[in-house]
Amino acid sequence: MATNNDTKQAPNDPATGLVKGLVNWFNDRAPNAGVAYKKHMTEYFAPKNFNIWYYFGSLAMLVLVNQIVTGIFLTMHFKPAADAAFASVEYIMRDVEWGWLIRYMHSTGASLFFIVVYLHMFRGLMYGSFKKPRELVWLLGMVIYLVLMAEAFMGYVLPWGQMSFWGAKVIISLFGAIPVIGNGLTEWIMGDYLPSDATLNRFFALHVIALPLVLLLLVVLHLGALHEVGSNNPDGVEIKYGPKGNRWSPTAPTDGIPFHPYYTVKDMVGVGFFLILAAFIIFFEPTVGGLFLEHDNFNEANRLVTPSHIKPTWYFTPYYAMLRVVPNKLGGVMVMFGAIVMLFLVPWLDRSPVKSIRYRGILAKVMLFAFALSFLWLGKIGSGPGTDIIETYIGRVLTFFYFMFFITMPIWSRLDRTKPVPTRVTMHD
Ligand code: HEM
Repeated sequence: MATNNDTKQAPNDPATGLVKGLVNWFNDRAPNAGVAYKKHMTEYFAPKNFNIWYYFGSLAMLVLVNQIVTGIFLTMHFKPAADAAFASVEYIMRDVEWGWLIRYMHSTGASLFFIVVYLHMFRGLMYGSFKKPRELVWLLGMVIYLVLMAEAFMGYVLPWGQMSFWGAKVIISLFGAIPVIGNGLTEWIMGDYLPSDATLNRFFALHVIALPLVLLLLVVLHLGALHEVGSNNPDGVEIKYGPKGNRWSPTAPTDGIPFHPYYTVKDMVGVGFFLILAAFIIFFEPTVGGLFLEHDNFNEANRLVTPSHIKPTWYFTPYYAMLRVVPNKLGGVMVMFGAIVMLFLVPWLDRSPVKSIRYRGILAKVMLFAFALSFLWLGKIGSGPGTDIIETYIGRVLTFFYFMFFITMPIWSRLDRTKPVPTRVTMHD
Protein backbone atom coordinates (compact mmCIF):
# COMPACT_ATOMS: atom_id res chain seq x y z
CA MET A 1 0.00 0.00 0.00
CA ALA A 2 1.31 3.48 -0.88
CA THR A 3 1.92 5.76 2.10
CA ASN A 4 2.06 9.53 2.13
CA ASN A 5 5.83 9.37 2.11
CA ASP A 6 5.88 7.24 -1.03
CA THR A 7 3.88 9.80 -2.97
CA LYS A 8 5.88 12.75 -1.66
CA GLN A 9 9.28 11.42 -2.59
CA ALA A 10 9.51 10.03 -6.07
CA PRO A 11 13.26 9.41 -6.27
CA ASN A 12 13.05 7.73 -9.63
CA ASP A 13 10.98 10.44 -11.28
CA PRO A 14 13.36 12.04 -13.85
CA ALA A 15 11.43 15.34 -13.79
CA THR A 16 11.81 15.71 -10.00
CA GLY A 17 15.46 14.82 -10.30
CA LEU A 18 15.95 17.45 -12.97
CA VAL A 19 14.23 20.21 -10.94
CA LYS A 20 16.23 19.27 -7.82
CA GLY A 21 19.41 19.24 -9.85
CA LEU A 22 18.69 22.68 -11.29
CA VAL A 23 17.80 24.10 -7.84
CA ASN A 24 21.01 22.67 -6.36
CA TRP A 25 23.06 24.00 -9.28
CA PHE A 26 21.58 27.46 -8.78
CA ASN A 27 22.00 27.37 -4.98
CA ASP A 28 25.65 26.39 -5.27
CA ARG A 29 26.30 29.44 -7.42
CA ALA A 30 24.01 31.97 -5.68
CA PRO A 31 23.54 30.78 -2.09
CA ASN A 32 22.30 34.22 -0.97
CA ALA A 33 19.30 34.09 -3.33
CA GLY A 34 17.83 31.26 -1.24
CA VAL A 35 18.58 33.21 1.94
CA ALA A 36 16.79 36.29 0.54
CA TYR A 37 13.81 34.18 -0.56
CA LYS A 38 13.48 32.78 2.95
CA LYS A 39 13.96 36.18 4.62
CA HIS A 40 11.28 37.89 2.53
CA MET A 41 8.84 35.07 1.81
CA THR A 42 8.80 31.77 3.70
CA GLU A 43 10.44 33.10 6.86
CA TYR A 44 8.97 36.59 6.83
CA PHE A 45 6.48 36.28 9.66
CA ALA A 46 3.55 38.63 9.15
CA PRO A 47 0.82 39.15 11.77
CA LYS A 48 -1.94 36.56 11.40
CA ASN A 49 -4.77 39.12 11.62
CA PHE A 50 -4.40 41.04 8.35
CA ASN A 51 -7.76 42.16 6.94
CA ILE A 52 -8.80 43.42 3.47
CA TRP A 53 -6.98 46.73 4.02
CA TYR A 54 -3.76 44.75 3.65
CA TYR A 55 -4.53 43.86 0.03
CA PHE A 56 -3.49 47.23 -1.33
CA GLY A 57 0.30 46.90 -1.02
CA SER A 58 0.41 43.82 -3.24
CA LEU A 59 -2.20 45.36 -5.56
CA ALA A 60 0.00 48.45 -5.94
CA MET A 61 2.84 46.16 -7.03
CA LEU A 62 0.51 44.43 -9.51
CA VAL A 63 -0.53 47.76 -11.04
CA LEU A 64 3.10 48.90 -11.20
CA VAL A 65 3.96 45.79 -13.23
CA ASN A 66 0.91 46.35 -15.45
CA GLN A 67 1.99 49.94 -16.12
CA ILE A 68 5.51 48.86 -17.04
CA VAL A 69 4.46 45.99 -19.31
CA THR A 70 1.67 47.87 -21.15
CA GLY A 71 3.94 50.94 -21.28
CA ILE A 72 6.64 48.96 -23.09
CA PHE A 73 4.13 47.88 -25.77
CA LEU A 74 2.75 51.42 -26.13
CA THR A 75 6.30 52.73 -26.60
CA MET A 76 6.72 50.41 -29.59
CA HIS A 77 4.12 52.42 -31.54
CA PHE A 78 4.09 55.85 -29.88
CA LYS A 79 5.94 58.76 -31.53
CA PRO A 80 7.26 61.34 -29.03
CA ALA A 81 7.00 64.39 -31.32
CA ALA A 82 4.53 67.28 -31.10
CA ASP A 83 3.41 66.81 -34.71
CA ALA A 84 3.07 63.01 -34.51
CA ALA A 85 2.17 61.99 -30.93
CA PHE A 86 -1.61 62.46 -31.15
CA ALA A 87 -1.85 60.61 -34.48
CA SER A 88 0.33 57.77 -33.17
CA VAL A 89 -2.06 57.28 -30.22
CA GLU A 90 -5.01 57.21 -32.64
CA TYR A 91 -3.07 54.67 -34.72
CA ILE A 92 -2.55 52.53 -31.59
CA MET A 93 -6.30 52.75 -30.84
CA ARG A 94 -7.51 51.91 -34.35
CA ASP A 95 -4.86 49.98 -36.28
CA VAL A 96 -2.44 48.25 -33.91
CA GLU A 97 -3.65 44.74 -33.07
CA TRP A 98 -5.07 44.89 -29.52
CA GLY A 99 -3.68 48.44 -29.30
CA TRP A 100 -6.93 49.78 -27.82
CA LEU A 101 -6.70 47.19 -25.04
CA ILE A 102 -3.09 48.00 -24.23
CA ARG A 103 -3.78 51.73 -24.19
CA TYR A 104 -6.88 51.40 -21.98
CA MET A 105 -5.07 48.99 -19.64
CA HIS A 106 -2.41 51.66 -19.24
CA SER A 107 -4.74 54.67 -18.85
CA THR A 108 -7.15 52.82 -16.54
CA GLY A 109 -4.12 51.41 -14.69
CA ALA A 110 -2.97 54.95 -13.87
CA SER A 111 -6.25 55.79 -12.11
CA LEU A 112 -6.43 52.40 -10.41
CA PHE A 113 -2.87 52.96 -9.19
CA PHE A 114 -3.98 56.09 -7.36
CA ILE A 115 -7.13 54.46 -5.98
CA VAL A 116 -5.00 51.62 -4.61
CA VAL A 117 -2.29 53.94 -3.26
CA TYR A 118 -4.82 56.28 -1.58
CA LEU A 119 -6.49 53.30 0.14
CA HIS A 120 -3.03 51.97 1.08
CA MET A 121 -2.11 55.32 2.63
CA PHE A 122 -5.46 55.59 4.43
CA ARG A 123 -4.84 52.13 5.92
CA GLY A 124 -1.50 53.43 7.22
CA LEU A 125 -3.23 56.42 8.83
CA MET A 126 -5.97 54.22 10.36
CA TYR A 127 -3.70 51.66 11.93
CA GLY A 128 -0.82 54.01 12.84
CA SER A 129 1.57 52.16 10.51
CA PHE A 130 3.68 55.33 10.23
CA LYS A 131 4.51 55.31 13.95
CA LYS A 132 7.75 54.07 15.47
CA PRO A 133 9.49 51.86 14.28
CA ARG A 134 7.97 52.28 10.76
CA GLU A 135 8.70 55.97 10.12
CA LEU A 136 11.12 55.09 7.32
CA VAL A 137 8.54 52.86 5.61
CA TRP A 138 6.11 55.79 5.64
CA LEU A 139 8.70 58.31 4.42
CA LEU A 140 9.75 56.06 1.54
CA GLY A 141 6.05 55.59 0.74
CA MET A 142 5.63 59.37 0.61
CA VAL A 143 8.58 59.71 -1.78
CA ILE A 144 6.94 57.00 -3.92
CA TYR A 145 3.72 59.05 -3.87
CA LEU A 146 5.58 62.17 -5.06
CA VAL A 147 7.37 60.33 -7.86
CA LEU A 148 4.11 58.63 -8.84
CA MET A 149 2.45 62.04 -9.19
CA ALA A 150 5.28 63.28 -11.42
CA GLU A 151 5.09 60.07 -13.45
CA ALA A 152 1.32 60.38 -13.95
CA PHE A 153 1.52 64.06 -14.83
CA MET A 154 4.16 63.49 -17.51
CA GLY A 155 2.30 60.48 -18.89
CA TYR A 156 -0.82 62.58 -19.35
CA VAL A 157 1.10 65.09 -21.48
CA LEU A 158 2.32 62.44 -23.95
CA PRO A 159 -0.85 61.86 -26.07
CA TRP A 160 -0.67 65.59 -26.90
CA GLY A 161 -4.41 66.16 -26.60
CA GLN A 162 -5.96 69.48 -25.59
CA MET A 163 -5.84 68.67 -21.86
CA SER A 164 -2.27 67.35 -22.18
CA PHE A 165 -1.14 70.67 -23.58
CA TRP A 166 -3.18 73.03 -21.42
CA GLY A 167 -2.74 70.97 -18.26
CA ALA A 168 1.03 71.03 -18.81
CA LYS A 169 0.92 74.77 -19.44
CA VAL A 170 -1.05 75.56 -16.25
CA ILE A 171 0.93 73.26 -13.98
CA ILE A 172 4.41 74.12 -15.27
CA SER A 173 3.56 77.84 -15.20
CA LEU A 174 2.97 77.49 -11.44
CA PHE A 175 6.74 77.53 -11.03
CA GLY A 176 6.56 81.07 -12.43
CA ALA A 177 5.09 82.16 -9.07
CA ILE A 178 8.47 81.57 -7.38
CA PRO A 179 10.13 84.96 -6.87
CA VAL A 180 13.28 85.80 -8.91
CA ILE A 181 13.93 82.41 -10.52
CA GLY A 182 10.28 81.55 -11.37
CA ASN A 183 10.14 82.55 -15.03
CA GLY A 184 13.56 81.13 -15.85
CA LEU A 185 12.65 77.89 -14.12
CA THR A 186 9.39 77.55 -16.09
CA GLU A 187 11.24 78.07 -19.35
CA TRP A 188 13.92 75.59 -18.31
CA ILE A 189 11.35 72.89 -17.50
CA MET A 190 9.46 73.39 -20.78
CA GLY A 191 12.56 73.95 -22.91
CA ASP A 192 10.49 76.66 -24.63
CA TYR A 193 8.00 79.44 -23.85
CA LEU A 194 5.04 77.07 -24.21
CA PRO A 195 4.73 73.28 -23.94
CA SER A 196 6.32 72.14 -27.19
CA ASP A 197 8.22 69.39 -28.95
CA ALA A 198 11.13 69.82 -26.51
CA THR A 199 8.76 69.44 -23.54
CA LEU A 200 7.18 66.33 -25.02
CA ASN A 201 10.59 64.78 -25.69
CA ARG A 202 11.95 65.26 -22.19
CA PHE A 203 8.68 64.16 -20.55
CA PHE A 204 8.81 61.02 -22.69
CA ALA A 205 12.36 60.25 -21.51
CA LEU A 206 11.43 60.84 -17.89
CA HIS A 207 8.12 58.97 -18.11
CA VAL A 208 9.34 55.80 -19.83
CA ILE A 209 12.72 55.28 -18.24
CA ALA A 210 13.96 57.64 -15.50
CA LEU A 211 10.94 57.74 -13.18
CA PRO A 212 9.94 54.05 -13.56
CA LEU A 213 13.50 53.09 -12.57
CA VAL A 214 13.32 55.38 -9.54
CA LEU A 215 9.90 53.97 -8.63
CA LEU A 216 11.13 50.39 -8.80
CA LEU A 217 14.13 51.22 -6.63
CA LEU A 218 11.92 53.02 -4.11
CA VAL A 219 9.50 50.09 -3.90
CA VAL A 220 12.44 47.74 -3.16
CA LEU A 221 13.64 50.13 -0.43
CA HIS A 222 10.06 50.51 0.92
CA LEU A 223 9.69 46.74 1.30
CA GLY A 224 13.26 46.36 2.58
CA ALA A 225 12.54 48.94 5.29
CA LEU A 226 9.26 47.18 6.16
CA HIS A 227 10.88 43.77 6.45
CA GLU A 228 13.56 45.12 8.78
CA VAL A 229 10.94 46.05 11.40
CA GLY A 230 8.04 43.76 10.44
CA SER A 231 4.46 44.60 9.42
CA ASN A 232 2.00 46.43 11.59
CA ASN A 233 -1.58 45.05 11.73
CA PRO A 234 -5.19 46.17 12.39
CA ASP A 235 -4.63 45.96 16.17
CA GLY A 236 -1.42 48.00 16.05
CA VAL A 237 0.24 45.52 18.43
CA GLU A 238 3.88 44.54 17.87
CA ILE A 239 4.01 40.77 17.37
CA LYS A 240 7.79 40.83 17.74
CA TYR A 241 7.54 41.78 21.40
CA GLY A 242 4.91 39.14 22.19
CA PRO A 243 5.65 35.63 23.48
CA LYS A 244 8.18 34.03 21.15
CA GLY A 245 8.00 30.93 19.03
CA ASN A 246 5.40 29.42 16.73
CA ARG A 247 4.88 26.10 14.93
CA TRP A 248 7.37 27.07 12.21
CA SER A 249 10.21 28.34 14.34
CA PRO A 250 10.98 28.57 18.07
CA THR A 251 12.43 32.05 17.56
CA ALA A 252 9.62 33.53 15.43
CA PRO A 253 6.82 35.73 16.81
CA THR A 254 3.89 33.67 18.14
CA ASP A 255 1.27 35.69 16.26
CA GLY A 256 3.19 35.63 12.97
CA ILE A 257 2.56 33.34 10.00
CA PRO A 258 4.91 32.84 7.02
CA PHE A 259 4.18 35.37 4.27
CA HIS A 260 4.44 32.55 1.76
CA PRO A 261 2.20 30.59 1.32
CA TYR A 262 -0.37 32.17 3.67
CA TYR A 263 -0.45 35.76 2.41
CA THR A 264 0.54 34.99 -1.18
CA VAL A 265 -2.63 32.86 -1.34
CA LYS A 266 -4.74 35.48 0.48
CA ASP A 267 -3.45 38.22 -1.84
CA MET A 268 -4.53 36.15 -4.85
CA VAL A 269 -8.14 36.57 -3.70
CA GLY A 270 -7.68 40.36 -3.69
CA VAL A 271 -6.03 40.17 -7.10
CA GLY A 272 -9.03 38.19 -8.44
CA PHE A 273 -11.58 40.79 -7.29
CA PHE A 274 -9.38 43.63 -8.46
CA LEU A 275 -8.92 42.17 -11.95
CA ILE A 276 -12.69 41.71 -12.32
CA LEU A 277 -13.21 45.39 -11.47
CA ALA A 278 -10.36 46.49 -13.76
CA ALA A 279 -11.69 44.36 -16.66
CA PHE A 280 -15.17 45.80 -16.17
CA ILE A 281 -13.85 49.37 -16.47
CA ILE A 282 -11.49 48.62 -19.36
CA PHE A 283 -14.10 46.79 -21.45
CA PHE A 284 -17.24 48.78 -20.68
CA GLU A 285 -16.37 52.30 -19.51
CA PRO A 286 -12.63 53.06 -20.02
CA THR A 287 -12.98 56.83 -19.70
CA VAL A 288 -15.38 56.56 -16.70
CA GLY A 289 -17.41 59.42 -18.11
CA GLY A 290 -14.38 61.68 -18.53
CA LEU A 291 -12.98 61.00 -15.05
CA PHE A 292 -10.12 58.63 -16.00
CA LEU A 293 -9.58 60.13 -19.49
CA GLU A 294 -11.00 63.59 -20.09
CA HIS A 295 -13.17 64.17 -23.16
CA ASP A 296 -11.06 67.17 -24.21
CA ASN A 297 -8.04 64.93 -24.54
CA PHE A 298 -9.59 63.19 -27.54
CA ASN A 299 -8.95 66.44 -29.49
CA GLU A 300 -5.44 67.24 -30.65
CA ALA A 301 -3.50 69.96 -28.78
CA ASN A 302 -4.11 73.42 -30.19
CA ARG A 303 -2.24 76.36 -28.71
CA LEU A 304 -4.79 78.81 -30.18
CA VAL A 305 -7.88 77.24 -28.56
CA THR A 306 -8.13 77.11 -24.76
CA PRO A 307 -10.53 74.43 -23.41
CA SER A 308 -13.47 75.96 -21.54
CA HIS A 309 -12.49 74.21 -18.35
CA ILE A 310 -8.89 73.17 -17.67
CA LYS A 311 -8.50 70.66 -14.86
CA PRO A 312 -6.16 67.81 -13.96
CA THR A 313 -7.15 64.14 -13.66
CA TRP A 314 -9.22 63.29 -10.56
CA TYR A 315 -6.29 62.16 -8.40
CA PHE A 316 -4.77 65.65 -8.41
CA THR A 317 -8.02 67.59 -7.95
CA PRO A 318 -7.91 67.94 -4.11
CA TYR A 319 -4.58 69.81 -4.44
CA TYR A 320 -5.82 71.70 -7.50
CA ALA A 321 -8.84 72.89 -5.49
CA MET A 322 -6.47 74.25 -2.80
CA LEU A 323 -4.49 76.08 -5.46
CA ARG A 324 -7.63 77.68 -6.86
CA VAL A 325 -9.35 78.73 -3.64
CA VAL A 326 -6.29 80.67 -2.42
CA PRO A 327 -6.56 84.11 -4.05
CA ASN A 328 -2.81 84.69 -4.39
CA LYS A 329 -0.84 82.60 -6.94
CA LEU A 330 2.31 82.13 -4.85
CA GLY A 331 0.15 81.48 -1.77
CA GLY A 332 -1.83 78.86 -3.69
CA VAL A 333 1.33 77.10 -4.84
CA MET A 334 2.72 77.09 -1.29
CA VAL A 335 -0.54 75.74 0.14
CA MET A 336 -0.63 73.02 -2.52
CA PHE A 337 2.92 71.83 -1.84
CA GLY A 338 2.47 72.37 1.91
CA ALA A 339 -0.47 69.96 1.83
CA ILE A 340 1.87 67.18 0.70
CA VAL A 341 4.65 68.19 3.14
CA MET A 342 2.13 67.75 5.99
CA LEU A 343 1.74 64.08 5.11
CA PHE A 344 5.50 63.58 5.39
CA LEU A 345 5.41 64.89 8.97
CA VAL A 346 2.66 62.62 10.33
CA PRO A 347 5.04 60.24 12.20
CA TRP A 348 6.19 63.18 14.35
CA LEU A 349 2.86 64.97 14.67
CA ASP A 350 0.93 62.00 16.05
CA ARG A 351 1.48 61.80 19.82
CA SER A 352 -1.04 59.10 20.66
CA PRO A 353 0.28 56.18 22.77
CA VAL A 354 -1.99 53.92 20.68
CA LYS A 355 -1.43 52.99 17.03
CA SER A 356 -4.67 51.52 15.72
CA ILE A 357 -7.92 53.41 15.27
CA ARG A 358 -9.59 50.39 16.94
CA TYR A 359 -8.27 51.49 20.34
CA ARG A 360 -8.35 55.23 19.84
CA GLY A 361 -11.09 57.43 21.23
CA ILE A 362 -13.92 59.26 19.53
CA LEU A 363 -11.85 62.41 18.94
CA ALA A 364 -9.27 60.62 16.75
CA LYS A 365 -12.02 58.77 14.88
CA VAL A 366 -13.94 61.98 14.13
CA MET A 367 -10.78 63.81 13.06
CA LEU A 368 -9.67 61.04 10.68
CA PHE A 369 -13.15 60.69 9.19
CA ALA A 370 -13.48 64.48 8.73
CA PHE A 371 -10.01 64.59 7.15
CA ALA A 372 -10.91 61.90 4.59
CA LEU A 373 -14.18 63.69 3.86
CA SER A 374 -12.47 67.05 3.37
CA PHE A 375 -9.94 65.48 0.97
CA LEU A 376 -12.74 63.90 -1.11
CA TRP A 377 -14.82 67.07 -1.09
CA LEU A 378 -11.83 69.14 -2.16
CA GLY A 379 -11.37 66.62 -4.97
CA LYS A 380 -14.94 67.28 -6.10
CA ILE A 381 -14.44 71.05 -5.95
CA GLY A 382 -11.17 70.78 -7.88
CA SER A 383 -12.83 68.89 -10.71
CA GLY A 384 -15.59 71.51 -11.15
CA PRO A 385 -15.39 74.70 -13.22
CA GLY A 386 -14.25 76.75 -10.20
CA THR A 387 -16.67 79.60 -10.83
CA ASP A 388 -19.12 79.02 -7.96
CA ILE A 389 -18.41 81.53 -5.17
CA ILE A 390 -20.06 79.39 -2.44
CA GLU A 391 -17.97 76.41 -3.50
CA THR A 392 -14.87 78.60 -3.31
CA TYR A 393 -15.68 79.48 0.32
CA ILE A 394 -16.40 75.84 1.15
CA GLY A 395 -13.05 75.00 -0.46
CA ARG A 396 -11.30 77.52 1.81
CA VAL A 397 -12.91 76.06 4.92
CA LEU A 398 -11.96 72.53 3.83
CA THR A 399 -8.37 73.59 3.05
CA PHE A 400 -8.17 75.24 6.47
CA PHE A 401 -9.45 72.05 8.10
CA TYR A 402 -7.01 69.93 6.06
CA PHE A 403 -4.09 71.87 7.53
CA MET A 404 -5.61 72.04 11.02
CA PHE A 405 -5.93 68.25 11.04
CA PHE A 406 -2.13 68.04 10.87
CA ILE A 407 -1.13 71.18 12.78
CA THR A 408 -3.31 70.37 15.79
CA MET A 409 -2.54 66.63 15.65
CA PRO A 410 0.00 66.80 18.51
CA ILE A 411 -2.81 68.21 20.68
CA TRP A 412 -5.85 66.14 19.74
CA SER A 413 -3.92 62.88 19.49
CA ARG A 414 -2.79 63.41 23.13
CA LEU A 415 -6.20 64.60 24.42
CA ASP A 416 -7.97 61.60 22.83
CA ARG A 417 -9.27 59.07 25.40
CA THR A 418 -7.80 55.80 24.18
CA LYS A 419 -9.02 52.30 25.08
CA PRO A 420 -6.86 49.52 26.60
CA VAL A 421 -4.78 47.79 23.93
CA PRO A 422 -4.65 43.96 23.92
CA THR A 423 -1.25 42.39 24.49
CA ARG A 424 -1.74 39.92 21.61
CA VAL A 425 -3.41 40.45 18.22
CA THR A 426 -7.14 39.67 18.08
CA MET A 427 -8.87 37.72 15.32
CA HIS A 428 -12.36 39.24 15.39
CA ASP A 429 -13.20 42.02 12.98
C1 HEM B 1 4.07 52.04 -5.82
C2 HEM B 1 3.49 52.27 -4.69
C3 HEM B 1 3.56 51.37 -3.48
C4 HEM B 1 3.78 50.03 -3.43
C5 HEM B 1 4.02 49.06 -4.59
C6 HEM B 1 3.75 49.66 -2.03
C7 HEM B 1 3.91 48.37 -1.57
C8 HEM B 1 3.75 47.97 -0.26
C9 HEM B 1 3.67 46.61 0.18
C10 HEM B 1 3.71 45.37 -0.73
C11 HEM B 1 3.51 46.62 1.53
C12 HEM B 1 3.36 45.40 2.43
C13 HEM B 1 1.92 44.89 2.36
C14 HEM B 1 0.94 45.82 2.99
O1 HEM B 1 1.18 46.22 4.13
O2 HEM B 1 -0.06 46.17 2.33
C15 HEM B 1 3.52 48.00 1.96
C16 HEM B 1 3.41 48.43 3.26
C17 HEM B 1 3.35 49.76 3.66
N1 HEM B 1 3.29 50.85 2.84
FE1 HEM B 1 3.43 50.83 0.80
N2 HEM B 1 3.53 50.76 -1.26
C18 HEM B 1 3.40 51.84 -2.11
C19 HEM B 1 3.14 53.15 -1.74
C20 HEM B 1 3.02 53.60 -0.43
C21 HEM B 1 2.69 54.95 -0.04
C22 HEM B 1 2.42 56.10 -1.02
C23 HEM B 1 2.67 54.99 1.32
C24 HEM B 1 2.39 56.13 2.25
C25 HEM B 1 2.93 57.25 2.24
C26 HEM B 1 2.98 53.65 1.81
C27 HEM B 1 3.08 53.29 3.14
C28 HEM B 1 3.20 51.99 3.60
C29 HEM B 1 3.22 51.61 5.00
C30 HEM B 1 3.16 52.56 6.22
C31 HEM B 1 3.33 50.21 5.04
C32 HEM B 1 3.36 49.33 6.29
C33 HEM B 1 1.94 48.96 6.60
C34 HEM B 1 1.76 48.10 7.81
O3 HEM B 1 2.67 47.35 8.15
O4 HEM B 1 0.66 48.22 8.40
N3 HEM B 1 3.18 52.84 0.72
N4 HEM B 1 3.66 48.80 0.85
